Amino acid sequence: MSTATKDISDETPINTAIHSESAPHPDTGYRQYAIGSFTFERDEYFARVKSPTGTHVVDIENFLRSMMRDVAWGFFYGWVNFDEVIGTVNLYGSVDLYMGTYNSAYREAGTDYVERFDSQNLLACFKSMLKDWTNAGFDPFAAPLETGTARGPKNGNNDVAVDFQRELADRFVTLPGDSEIRSDERGFAINRQFTDVSQGEPEVHAEPGFEGQIAAFNLFKYLSRSPVTWNPSIVSIVKNSAYCPTSEEHILPIDHGNDRVEWFIQLSDEISWRVGDKDSGAPRAVITMKAGDVSCMPADIRHRGYSPKRSMLLVWENLTPGLEKRYASGELPPVPAVF
Ligand code: PHB
Ligand code: FE
Repeated sequence: MSTATKDISDETPINTAIHSESAPHPDTGYRQYAIGSFTFERDEYFARVKSPTGTHVVDIENFLRSMMRDVAWGFFYGWVNFDEVIGTVNLYGSVDLYMGTYNSAYREAGTDYVERFDSQNLLACFKSMLKDWTNAGFDPFAAPLETGTARGPKNGNNDVAVDFQRELADRFVTLPGDSEIRSDERGFAINRQFTDVSQGEPEVHAEPGFEGQIAAFNLFKYLSRSPVTWNPSIVSIVKNSAYCPTSEEHILPIDHGNDRVEWFIQLSDEISWRVGDKDSGAPRAVITMKAGDVSCMPADIRHRGYSPKRSMLLVWENLTPGLEKRYASGELPPVPAVF
């Protein structure tokens, strides 16, 4: 069985088309979207994605949760697999939208299809779809136990949830002019599952001359007040090293295909990760991480996390420009250390 990566060379032309959207459907109230040769429709339960080689149907709540991440993260690093069939690959300026391209059964059947778009144009299409298809009472960033349903005919919208901006520190939380600590006053209440987390803050006593350059904050308190799930913030940036902590509950809506190595440090509770081959989706491992466990996700896998209760995770990212090309070319091995 061939699992060779489909060759998507840098010479693939970029379709600069902008999307079109229909009038609201007379029965369901939802608009249909089209960009390039892809079309998107939703009904009361499902999203339906059509390409020239096939139709793919997805549960609407899972679809919106995935779409929310793809939009909010500007296509993220590498692959955002909504499921085992459809998703996007970030080429940083352009983006591939695919059906079955990273699924060995689709490739063998010849029903895989990919089209490359200008990132801003695809983002505009996805944002408009996300807004139209998200009903009042459903927050695609929230844990399922903390929100209503997306199902049913069109019922208002939830732009406040869909426009949620994650906090991205430039250097470090609490440095002058940078991200602030989370508090009730700023609208960040303690989550129902983190009421036992200490809410104290460290005292900072800088030596004369170093005022404004020394900072510390309580990361557990910060995460205990995260209103969303599976949506890393940035709390520190040191050169190209970014600390991206996040609070997790239920399932990571996307199966992230790494274009670089990334590290996970489980700060509380437990997450199980299903790990698969990045190109074919073939299962490779299940990893259960408990508080204090550290793991490295290689550059040649996809992973999806399962968090049975709200937990705290630190994702450590390497933002070095061009890193994705060095892994893709084989210059760098897919793991950080070879024994
Ligand atoms: C990841 O793909 O590495 C990832 C994404 C979002 C999270 C955690 C991990 O909340
Ligand atoms: Fe990842």
